[in-house]
Parts: sequence; structure tokens; C-alpha cells
Amino acid sequence: MKSAVLAAVALSSGSAFAATSYSLVKEYTGSSFFDDWVFYDNYDNTTSGDVEYVSQTNATSGKLAYVNSNGAAIIKVDNTTYVPYNDKRDSVRITTADYFEPGSVIIFDAAHMPYGCSIWPSFWTKGQNWPDGGEIDIMEGINGMTANQMALHTDAGCNASSSATFSGTIGETNCNSSSGCQFSEAQSNSYGEGFAAAGGGVFATLWDNTQIAIWFWTRSSVPSSVSSATSSVDISDWGTPSANYTTGACDLSTSFAAQQLVLDITMCGTWAGVDTIYEETCTVQGTANASSCYLQNVFDSGNQTALATAYFEINYIKAFNANGTILTSSGTTTSVDASSALASATASGSSSSSGSSSAVPLVAGGAAKMWGLAASAGALFAWTLM
Ligand SMILES: *[C@@H]1O[C@H](CO)[C@@H](O)[C@H](O)[C@H]1NC(C)=O
Ligand SMILES: *[C@@H]1O[C@H](CO)[C@@H](O)[C@H](O)[C@H]1NC(C)=O
Ligand SMILES: *[C@@H]1O[C@H](CO)[C@@H](O)[C@H](O)[C@H]1NC(C)=O
Ligand SMILES: *[C@@H]1O[C@H](CO)[C@@H](O)[C@H](O)[C@H]1NC(C)=O
Ligand SMILES: *[C@@H]1O[C@H](CO)[C@@H](O)[C@H](O)[C@H]1NC(C)=O
Ligand SMILES: *[C@@H]1O[C@H](CO)[C@@H](O)[C@H](O)[C@H]1NC(C)=O
Ligand SMILES: *[C@@H]1O[C@H](CO)[C@@H](O)[C@H](O)[C@H]1NC(C)=O
Ligand SMILES: *[C@@H]1O[C@H](CO)[C@@H](O)[C@H](O)[C@H]1NC(C)=O
Ligand SMILES: *[C@@H]1O[C@H](CO)[C@@H](O)[C@H](O)[C@H]1NC(C)=O
Repeated sequence: MKSAVLAAVALSSGSAFAATSYSLVKEYTGSSFFDDWVFYDNYDNTTSGDVEYVSQTNATSGKLAYVNSNGAAIIKVDNTTYVPYNDKRDSVRITTADYFEPGSVIIFDAAHMPYGCSIWPSFWTKGQNWPDGGEIDIMEGINGMTANQMALHTDAGCNASSSATFSGTIGETNCNSSSGCQFSEAQSNSYGEGFAAAGGGVFATLWDNTQIAIWFWTRSSVPSSVSSATSSVDISDWGTPSANYTTGACDLSTSFAAQQLVLDITMCGTWAGVDTIYEETCTVQGTANASSCYLQNVFDSGNQTALATAYFEINYIKAFNANGTILTSSGTTTSVDASSALASATASGSSSSSGSSSAVPLVAGGAAKMWGLAASAGALFAWTLM
């Protein structure tokens, strides 16, 4: 194991597609899926959505976050409680306790993604002092959208380049815009009803100091190098990614700090809830106005049918790293023996670690910079495309 990792590090200084091996450092799956996440426990104060992100206690007792009989993690919007007019609906936002560093590959396998009118889910990553330290939006969609949208958010000076190799559709190229720099998935069934009907699929993200690339495979096309990856993963047969951000157009090493993973489902807010955007894929009864998204699906006189599809069903999330390391919340880089990172090997789900540790700052270099909320982003992209 150790020697394979050392060899991989030596090779990775060459071409991007040297036979780099990435060693498992963290697995979220099965009965231990929720062990190492932090529940937000606050209303949606970043995208002005009409949801209250509940505590772990409430999410567990309200069955908004649980592991189902198939061993899949369910994360959902509350569709059983009466919500009075002007109140918010309960939902879930969770963030990993651990951080991942450059040289990481994150694999996200889901059978179902939240979708429907008013619904806005995302699987994304962020630096500790977000919005500083960068943001990678791996999976995101709203309302009746059918294609997944990917984006980076960074400080000024970072762009997506149309000369990179990718299969998606490039949108806004300025990563410091309110929308971030965007790619839309070009393959079918990457979001919404189509994703679910196809049995879901897998999103994989490679992040190192030369590129950030995101791949999507619908269920029937998931390569065996992905589905059989356990203690390590080999990405050499993955082909062209859907999104590809390259270091020539963005200094990735200074734009991104160590990243935490985030899963959330909001409703309406600054993207899904903008009336003109809402109307693009959802039908409003009567005359649409700024309250349409809220009135139809958040409070209880609304159309509750739309909420039956507002859930994630996640088979697993696996994190691999070229150096075999993970950064814990205390700011310590820790070597992880891949066999101990396998969730099935530890009933508690907590990965034991071995090897040397050294303190590493969680924040990327450079002065603190801010960008607008990710919210209006999608709006701009929608206008660009439609
Ligand atoms: C949102 O609320 C959390 C918890 O109170 C707080 O830590 C955070 O600073 C708030 N964020 C914004 C953008 O207001
Ligand atoms: C959790 O549930 C309790 C009891 O219903 C409620 O008082 C509290 O506000 C809830 N907290 C959150 C964060 O939803
Ligand atoms: C991890 O390995 C990559 C090469 O794959 C290197 O660029 C990076 O600096 C390493 N990260 C740490 C924290 O050692
Ligand atoms: C991203 O694009 C660059 C430039 O075309 C290419 O060298 C690199 O291999 C691409 N990354 C992936 C993962 O395909
Ligand atoms: C990104 O684009 C802006 C505006 O065109 C430019 O000023 C900047 O130099 C670009 N950044 C890189 C790293 O190419
Ligand atoms: C929006 O329209 C609904 C009827 O569809 C109405 O009940 C509501 O008062 C309107 N809200 C605003 C802010 O105009
Ligand atoms: C209720 O929501 C469902 C699912 O989004 C939709 O098919 C149906 O047309 C909606 N009904 C009304 C009356 O808005
Ligand atoms: C509530 O959502 C679940 C899926 O999370 C669904 O199975 C159920 O049918 C929904 N309930 C209603 C009343 O639509
Ligand atoms: C771009 O970044 C600068 C700082 O780097 C910040 O002041 C500005 O608000 C950002 N612009 C947007 C649209 O987010």
C-alpha cells in the first residue's frame, strides 16, 4: 500500500494521465454514513431559501436523515408536517468534519436526487472560511431542470477556459462572477426525473493543482474502475470529463484551500425562487409573482405532491487522495491506511489513522476575498442558455 502511494506521487509530476493511484482516505456509506458530518442547525442564511436546516437530533427524529433498508442514506425535505403561512419548511444541510486536499478524487454514487418545483439541492465542496478558499459545485439543479450544472466560485482572476478538454456545455467563464464559472452536463439523465428513472448514476471529481475535473456516468455506463474501487481508484480509463478547469486559466493552488463536502436541499431562494426562473420549468396557477415558488410548494396550501421527489438516496461517497492523507478539523494532516478507511471495516464508521502528522493551514494563501452568493449564479446561466 505505502509503496504504491509513493510510486503514484512520483509519477504524478508528469502528465495528467500518468497511472496515478489514489488511496481511499474516507468512505461514507451504510449504517455509518452520517457519523462524521456536522448538521447546519440554522435557517438557510446563504441562499435565502424557505427552509430551516435542522439539528441532527431533529433530522433523526423527523426521519429527514436516515439509512434505509437498502443501506442507502436518505436526506430529505419534510413532507409530513403542517407549515403555517410565512414559516419555513424543515430540511437538511450537512458538512463533513474532515477536509480533503489537492490530489483528491471524490466519488458520489446516488440512486435519486431531490427534484421538483421549488426544490434546489446541491452536492458541493467549500473551504473552511467560505466564501474564502474556493467552492466546487459538483451536482446542482433547480425546479424542472434536466441537466446537472457544475461551477467553481473563487476570488478574482480565475476563469474556465474553452480550450480545456471537456464534454459539457461551457457557460459563464469568470469564476469570480456571482454565478461562478459553469459547465452544464451534455449527457442525458444527469438530474431530475431522468436521473432517477435511469437508476441514478455517479459523479466523480478530481482536484489537484493542475486541474479540477468532474465526470458523470448514468447508471448503465458507470465504469468498473469506479464501481469496483475500494482501497484505491485508478482514473486512467475515465475519458473526457464533463467539466474541466485548468491551471492555465486559474491558479488552482492559491484559489482553493482544503475542502469539506456539503450536501443540502433548499427551497426557492435566490435561484429556484426567482419568479421568472421558476416559470421556466414550473407552471404557476394564476398570475405568477415573487411568492409563487413559496405559495405553491413550501406552505401547506401549496402542492405537496411536488415534495415526494425532494430527497437524496445516496449509495456512498468515497474520498481518495494521491498522498493517502486527510486533513482533520483540528488542522492536522493525517496519513490514512486505506484498509482502515473502509467503512465496512469499522462498525463506528470512524477511520483510524496511522503515520505521521503535521499541522497544515486550512485556509488558502492570499487576502480574504468575497463573492456574491451562489444564488443569482444559476439565474445568469439560465438566461445565457435560454
Ligand atoms: C449563518 O448562520 C450560521 C449559524 O448561526 C453562522 O455561523 C453564519 O455566519 C451565518 N452565515 C451568514 C452568511 O449569515
Ligand atoms: C427541533 O425540534 C424542537 C421540538 O420540535 C424545536 O423546538 C426546535 O426548534 C427544532 N430545532 C430545529 C433546529 O429545527
Ligand atoms: C499531494 O500530492 C500532490 C501530487 O499529487 C501534491 O501536488 C500536493 O502538494 C500533495 N499535498 C500534500 C498536502 O502533501
Ligand atoms: C483538461 O483539459 C486539459 C487541456 O486540454 C487536458 O490536458 C487535461 O487532460 C484535461 N483533464 C482531464 C481530466 O481530461
Ligand atoms: C481571467 O480572465 C480575466 C478577464 O479576462 C483576466 O484578467 C485574467 O488574467 C484571467 N486569469 C487567468 C489566470 O488567465
Ligand atoms: C401572489 O399571487 C397570489 C395568488 O396567486 C396571491 O395570493 C399573493 O397575494 C400574491 N403575492 C404578491 C406579493 O403579490
Ligand atoms: C403539483 O405538483 C406535481 C409535481 O410537480 C405536478 O405534476 C402537478 O401538476 C402540480 N399540480 C398543481 C395543481 O400545481
Ligand atoms: C413524502 O416523501 C416521500 C419520499 O421522501 C414519499 O415516499 C411520500 O409519498 C411523500 N408523501 C406524500 C404525502 O407525498
Ligand atoms: C470578485 O472578487 C473580489 C475580490 O477578489 C470581490 O471584491 C468581488 O466582490 C468579487 N465579485 C463578485 C461578482 O463576486
